[in-house]
Amino acid sequence: MDANAAIGVFDSGLGGLTVARAIRAALPDERLVYLGDTARVPYGTRSAHTVIRYARTCAAHLEKRGIKALVVACNTVSAVALDMLRVELDLPVLGVIGPGARAGVAATRKGKLGVIATRGTIASGAYVRAVASIRSRVEVFGQAAPLLVPLAEEGWITGEVPERAVERYLQPLADAGVDAVVLGCTHYPLLRPVIEDVGARLFEGGLRLADGAEATAAELATMLTERELRATGPGGLEMLVTDLPDRFAEVASRFLGEDVDALAVKQVDL
Ligand code: DGL
Repeated sequence: MDANAAIGVFDSGLGGLTVARAIRAALPDERLVYLGDTARVPYGTRSAHTVIRYARTCAAHLEKRGIKALVVACNTVSAVALDMLRVELDLPVLGVIGPGARAGVAATRKGKLGVIATRGTIASGAYVRAVASIRSRVEVFGQAAPLLVPLAEEGWITGEVPERAVERYLQPLADAGVDAVVLGCTHYPLLRPVIEDVGARLFEGGLRLADGAEATAAELATMLTERELRATGPGGLEMLVTDLPDRFAEVASRFLGEDVDALAVKQVDL
């Protein structure tokens, strides 16, 4: 395996760029090829069977490009298709559920952990299993928060509408007495300021938020070092999408925290 080969990162669409951003900050010498399946987003409302089928085509496309490792930046794919990808691919494959669960377990003081995510992720029970494998005394309360995905996509991340939606999703978790919540979907870190504000109001003693993106980047760094696969640079980011590259470039700069040139986003067929 060539240590200077790129790392493949894929998501159902734009949201996984929050993970790509964390990887770029932690591993600036690495080249990333990011694939956003914008033709078929959202995955979070679809059946596990369909998500597995989509995940296979995304992973196969990146594998053909000669990547040295694959990061599944999408929580929904990580929840239902990670084991399958690990069996089928001849590459190290990392998902975001394990790192997210570890960040959540580290954040809770009371042993009551909330997880907000897509319907698909919550229905899979993946966070409950991941947390149980880390610390059995932590109770997990899952809450699907599907409306937060389109709000983030639209850039509607402040004001009354996102506040109301967040309030509605967090209230049951506050009632259950949780003290920490995992942002179990790639899009939610964009709404973090609203989630923090609403959390401070609804949760007695405050709310701690856990985000798997940085933990995923740290886990990737460790894995590359252990396998002697750290690149020597220069790093970079190539972006591929399955539909609407111009629109992607526009919204991507918000997720990535840097300017994205429309010409740098290429459209591919899977
Ligand atoms: N990427 C998805 C996730 O993290 C959110 C968007 C979607 O539903 O496809 O679960």
